[in-house]
Amino acid sequence: MKEDITIRKQFASRLIKWQKQYGRHGLPWQGREPYLVWLSEIMLQQTQVRTVLDYYPRFVASFPTVHALAAAHEDQVLGLWQGLGYYSRARNLHKAAKQIVTEFAGQFPSTRIQLQTLCGVGRSTAAAIAAFCFNERETILDGNVKRVLCRLLALDGDLNNKFFEQQLWHAAESLLPEKTEDIPTYIQGLMDLGAMICKRSKPICTACPMSDICLAKADNLVSQLPRKKKAVAVKDISLYWLVLRNRQNGALLLHKRPAKGIWGGLWCVPCLDSLAALDNLVAELDLTCDDLHEGIEISHRLTHRQLHIVPFTAQTSFKANLEAILPNAEWVLPQNLSDYGIPKPLKNYLDQVTNSLF
Ligand code: ADE
Repeated sequence: MKEDITIRKQFASRLIKWQKQYGRHGLPWQGREPYLVWLSEIMLQQTQVRTVLDYYPRFVASFPTVHALAAAHEDQVLGLWQGLGYYSRARNLHKAAKQIVTEFAGQFPSTRIQLQTLCGVGRSTAAAIAAFCFNERETILDGNVKRVLCRLLALDGDLNNKFFEQQLWHAAESLLPEKTEDIPTYIQGLMDLGAMICKRSKPICTACPMSDICLAKADNLVSQLPRKKKAVAVKDISLYWLVLRNRQNGALLLHKRPAKGIWGGLWCVPCLDSLAALDNLVAELDLTCDDLHEGIEISHRLTHRQLHIVPFTAQTSFKANLEAILPNAEWVLPQNLSDYGIPKPLKNYLDQVTNSLF
């Protein structure tokens, strides 16, 4: 208990001081413009800073304001997101931009509670925007912060457990600095400490401003906390691509996938989950199995799924109304592929084979 009081007294002021001296400064999204902060926070949800630094400037150049984003076509948004993965983030971002324009008259909401009403914005993301842009006294609690807190306070709970998560929210709130002017630096400090010092593996305790008040350090528990989440089983999934090239002009047949499920909203070649379904589609397109060439299997890992994709290629001069067979299908010339948001493994495959296809 005595330790807890010391920690609560010292944590915020030490973190703020440390952030100013050693934390990250000059990242392109650091500032108080809510549109730019929101966009960065969504990109950073499941993606490392290094990767986001590559995508973020292009996205901002294409959509400099929330109005520009709201007015865009979803395919344009998904096209700029291509390769970042977790595409529901991009679809939600686009929906939220429309919400801001229609429900908030184009003005970003300024409280954590209101921000949480935006599509794709949970409590922690809302708190980050509210803290950075509006100095709200709200805490974030992402994976990095959970790790910092579990170690600092030697909390040995199950990160999947809702009650434990609630305990972490309370702990995080109790550590906030009093003065609202300190909030942005403090929140950035939390992010920086988790990313730079209190890392999952090989934490740098010798450089940590909290090393003498860290309860896990005192009890030699740093490498054991936070307690590992139970690994979620990875499911093997077989998929079959039908890569059709138009004999007349070399165009590829793509269709926009439904919003739900793998690669939701992206443009993909017809993708079947069984050879029987592939046979059916092939027959509907007036092709036979003899017209198909089987390619080498592609392996692609998603978070909880291992995809095994077998591409089948064919040429066709099929011209009838595709819509009845394959909704939202288009013939796309290879030079226009960059206008479409395409799943990463398909992009890699097409980059390798487009010149030599068929
Ligand atoms: N991760 C999440 N938000 C971040 C931010 N604003 N800066 C650096 N890393 C982050």
